[in-house]
Amino acid sequence: MKRKPMIAGNWKMHMTTKEARELVAGILEQTSDVNFDRVDVLMAPPFTALSAVAELLSGRPVFLAGQNMHWEEKGAFTGEISPVMLKEVGCSHVIIGHSERRQYFGEMNETVNKKLRAAFSHGLTPILCVGESLEQREANQTFSVIEEELDKGLNGLTTEQVQSMILAYEPIWAIGTGKTASPEQAEEVHAFIRGWLEKRVGKEAADAIRVLYGGSVKPENIEGLMAKESIDGGLVGGASLKAESFAQIVKRGL
Ligand code: PGA
Repeated sequence: MKRKPMIAGNWKMHMTTKEARELVAGILEQTSDVNFDRVDVLMAPPFTALSAVAELLSGRPVFLAGQNMHWEEKGAFTGEISPVMLKEVGCSHVIIGHSERRQYFGEMNETVNKKLRAAFSHGLTPILCVGESLEQREANQTFSVIEEELDKGLNGLTTEQVQSMILAYEPIWAIGTGKTASPEQAEEVHAFIRGWLEKRVGKEAADAIRVLYGGSVKPENIEGLMAKESIDGGLVGGASLKAESFAQIVKRGL
């Protein structure tokens, strides 16, 4: 059984509010012939553009996500954004544990776990990112790194919570490098993740969980990736910043 695919755009630190409005308008126009019953589309703009994007997406079947958040509802945490704030502005999802957060901003599996719990208690669907670096892959540590990220990140979550979340496998060596994992390389890790999920929540629940692939997804490679049994969509960085390439990925990912 194939799950409903999701194509998610992670804009990272790109797009002023003005640019964001133009991009969303372009994407909506170029996906006007897409049947959204067959694919979930999500956009994760920077915090400053969320409300403008939410306004443009209102009434449209497109999901809005934060790229990160703090686990507390409010408090003296200068520079942070809370789950309540994301909800209020119209987010249904939040990306948690992106490798750039782990690599540059000290995100740990323990804080990932707190953020996942906070997302659930505020009714946000988390998209948890996991993935290995090039050195880890070359040292044959891919599976152990991912296993640790899953074990610690999902620690204490209920079967229901795990079942309702979205995972993203993002090999760090493929992010922003133009070097995509081959469909076979990606599928090998996706199958490993699904096997881990099966042990954690049982086969039926694991079968319902979407695992997206991220790392240099482009219109040219989405079809090959989506043809694989365990790949349920894409988390797209660079190619989500142009209406045409993002729309093409949505269409070819069907
Ligand atoms: P990329 O980024 O598509 O630019 O490689 C993917 C991501 O980091 O989510």
